[in-house]
Amino acid sequence: MLLKIAQIGNPILRGAARPLTSDEIGSPMIEQLIELMRETMRDANGVGLAAPQIEESIRLVVIEDRCDHPSLTPERLRERDRQPVPFHVLINPELTVLDPEEPVEFFEGCLSVPNLMGLVPRARRVAVQALDNAGAAVEIEASGWYARILQHELDHLEGRMYVDVAAGRSLSTSSNYVRHWQDRPISEVRGLSR
Ligand code: NI
Repeated sequence: MLLKIAQIGNPILRGAARPLTSDEIGSPMIEQLIELMRETMRDANGVGLAAPQIEESIRLVVIEDRCDHPSLTPERLRERDRQPVPFHVLINPELTVLDPEEPVEFFEGCLSVPNLMGLVPRARRVAVQALDNAGAAVEIEASGWYARILQHELDHLEGRMYVDVAAGRSLSTSSNYVRHWQDRPISEVRGLSR
């Protein structure tokens, strides 16, 4: 069964999500929700999904990057510092930016903003403290694309979306992104989209 993904303009995407209680963590209801979020994310070819996106205003995200993006060349994957990330669940996560001085810009999209991509500055390295689906403490130090995914998904829990911080002039439909921008080095993209 697939869940409906809330689209931009739905107020639930703009609220701060509440933490899960210890009773909820590991409960059949939350376990089932996680399973459905995993199916929904995979079906939509996403690399992350935050609970507010399926209209549950709770601090729960799922992440998985299989790196099977067929149209990204190995060079562009390298530029993005993108490697596979196995499926995992983050509950009540807290994010710390480890290198606030040097944000990096790449195109992002969001399952709640159909058919749009934009350049978004993100920290290269972050740390996240959270609980896993069984309630065990998880500590993550991430860099590159995984750090970007974490920042994007955890922003959803605060009611923030990538379009809030994307460079306005870089906004592109998905097909124009593939056609005009995807295969260019990001330094070139920056020059042309400003
Ligand atoms: Ni998103």
